[in-house]
Amino acid sequence: MDTDYDSHREDVAGRANVETTPELRAYYEELAGAEAGALWTVANKIEPWEPVSASLPVLWRYEALRDKVLKSLDLVTPEQAGRRVIYLSNPGRRDVVAAVGWLYSGLQVMRAGERASAHIHTASALRFIIEGQGAYTVVDGHKMTLGPNDFVLTPNGTWHEHAVAEEGTDCIWQDGLDIPLTNAMEANSYAVHEDLTQAVTYPVDASSGVWAAPGLVPTGHRWNKGYSPLLKYQWEATYEALQRHAKVSDGSEFDGIMMTFVNPATGGHVMQTIGASMQMLRPGERTKAHRHTGSFLYHCAKGAGHSIINGKRFDWKEHDIFCVPSWAWHEHANASDTEDACLFCFNDLPVMEKLGYWREEAFGDNGGRQPVLA
Ligand SMILES: [Fe+2]
Ligand SMILES: [Fe+2]
Repeated sequence: MDTDYDSHREDVAGRANVETTPELRAYYEELAGAEAGALWTVANKIEPWEPVSASLPVLWRYEALRDKVLKSLDLVTPEQAGRRVIYLSNPGRRDVVAAVGWLYSGLQVMRAGERASAHIHTASALRFIIEGQGAYTVVDGHKMTLGPNDFVLTPNGTWHEHAVAEEGTDCIWQDGLDIPLTNAMEANSYAVHEDLTQAVTYPVDASSGVWAAPGLVPTGHRWNKGYSPLLKYQWEATYEALQRHAKVSDGSEFDGIMMTFVNPATGGHVMQTIGASMQMLRPGERTKAHRHTGSFLYHCAKGAGHSIINGKRFDWKEHDIFCVPSWAWHEHANASDTEDACLFCFNDLPVMEKLGYWREEAFGDNGGRQPVLA
């Protein structure tokens, strides 16, 4: 038997199941010589019965990474590195430098007074602030001040730069980008600003002033870009919204109290390729398991708990990051009976939805909860 040609055979009506004979083998070699191949030798592999992810579920403990991230402060300057970032490497996605699926993530660190050069790229990005005072980002002339658990958009095609004010402290944040996706689509590009910095052309935090009011949009302001005109999402307002939501709703059996960050001009996702949400697990809450398409990177913004992903338990606490690969069973639990726990998440849902790939399934057995295998 020829393992190359026979390894994907399936004895199921409608699926490819051709035994390789010497005559066929010669034929396959003849096709290969013409840069071609017989579909039935690969059909079952390239069209799996259900979504397949190469990513593994991974938990990155902040406690374990923090010192290593801070160490980079003494090893490279932002000028040398461009961006001083330690990236999260999923063992199943090392070839494309992804943390999960087609999403990249890393932890960036900057000292007070440091500034990274202004640049622009095709990939879309967001930053979720972990610790430190004085961080700010400038996006197309908009300067945004940032505090812990705030996140800011640097959408594709915008000039942006990150810095920490002179009077600030060492700052660490999580970057989230769709670099692997953009590269998979062979569409990525990068440019550095000729002045290495850009002018701030709006009042500081103007985007929040105009667009951050709940249930209100500014009269007369037109916005037709593919990303949100609100560039910064602040923790205090988000947490307050989750608490108000929890008072009047039971939320989702799979996600507890969960809210999606939106573009206030459209109600849609914050960017064209990356979506984001914050969810709250109430004291003692344990959700039911489901699975769906899409890749998800979670960041514990508050509290502690665990998630069971494809039968494996991952215990997380504040600032730990973990991923849920596409089509992986997952459920979440709060570790505390008195405090809530909050999970920030960014994902590729806009892509899944726009391309018609979204699919979801509840875990039917065992009362909706996975047996824990590891
Ligand atoms: Fe960037
Ligand atoms: Fe989910």
